[in-house]
Amino acid sequence: MNAGKKAARTPGIARTLGRYRAEIEAGLRAAVSPAAAAPRAPESARALATMYGQIEYHLGWRAEDLSPAQGDPGKLLRPTLTLLAAELAGGGDAVGRALPAAVTVEMIHNFSLIHDDIEDGDEARRGRPTLWKIWGQAQAINSGDALFSMARMGVWELARLGVEPGLVVRLGKLLDQTCLELCEGQHLDMSFEGRREVTEEMYLDMIGRKTAALMSCAAEVGARIGAPEDDTLGDQLGAFGRALGLAFQLRDDVLGIWAAKELGKSYAGDVRRKKMTLPVIHALAQAASEDREALVAIYAARGLATDEQVARTLEILDRSGSRARAYHALREQLDIATAALESARRKAPAQGASAREAGEALMSLVDFIRADATIDG
Ligand code: IPE
Ligand code: MG
Ligand code: MG
Repeated sequence: MNAGKKAARTPGIARTLGRYRAEIEAGLRAAVSPAAAAPRAPESARALATMYGQIEYHLGWRAEDLSPAQGDPGKLLRPTLTLLAAELAGGGDAVGRALPAAVTVEMIHNFSLIHDDIEDGDEARRGRPTLWKIWGQAQAINSGDALFSMARMGVWELARLGVEPGLVVRLGKLLDQTCLELCEGQHLDMSFEGRREVTEEMYLDMIGRKTAALMSCAAEVGARIGAPEDDTLGDQLGAFGRALGLAFQLRDDVLGIWAAKELGKSYAGDVRRKKMTLPVIHALAQAASEDREALVAIYAARGLATDEQVARTLEILDRSGSRARAYHALREQLDIATAALESARRKAPAQGASAREAGEALMSLVDFIRADATIDG
């Protein structure tokens, strides 16, 4: 499906991602700039300008030579989730209170991407060289750690905005637990490479940690700030975020094989790189024996797959129903997300147009993925 047709079918997504974009970007700048501008001896200030510059480069605000730039900061999906959950739970007033948490979530996502690009050896992200590719792995690890530390500072900011101290501590713990889960997911992901015996269950557990944990946390934190008295709402929106996160990752897996161009990636890139994604795991377990043996041989060899191996793999995936299995798993998560969001919308104490719009905006995220979730999509 071409991008224009898709946008016409899911007009809500652009509006949803635009709803708080300006606030989130301003919040991110307000979190990074004071640290970068703190008083220091001139020598140190010059040297540290490079560290903060690297972080600002990754966020799209600076070019390679560290001059100001207007790069792509990404979709800002996770902080948008936080603010929409806060708005659904607590109405428009809750959005400002939740902003430092939204910024924290986006910074956590970005610190993990800086490290992920080192772990994956990826030389490009969002159409530009990765941080480590320009400044080396050692400094990229350190700049990622600095961004992680700044992310955690956002939690303390919540108390200043009137979030009750007991809730601040609870949210701080949830964010720390989420980061740990994310690192577990990254470890599992790397440990799966070149392994034959990865099951669908192991894979879903891995993406649950690597991707869905932070999306779940993003929504839960927003809901708890929006409606501190209502524990169930935080659980429901957390469950929504988790299922949405799983669906996003499954969509990424499917498009990474069959529609990589839409993601700005090369055709069948995940097959060429022999990534263990759900369709491949399914085929390795379920394909007819000749196909299975061929696939095992392709995936067991080191290095990138050749054009011929890519074509062979795609044929095998189609023949063994692996494409259909992946779409089925994706739709399952969308159904879970829809049900969780519907319960939350029924339960949300906040009334009025603002909360209603936030509910619709959250649903537009599900609809956006659903438009990709049909086999002819
Ligand atoms: C990145 O996962 C997820 C985290 C950093 C936790 P991937 O390695 O699969 O994603 P991309 O393709 O580099 O964004
Ligand atoms: Mg990666
Ligand atoms: Mg990775």
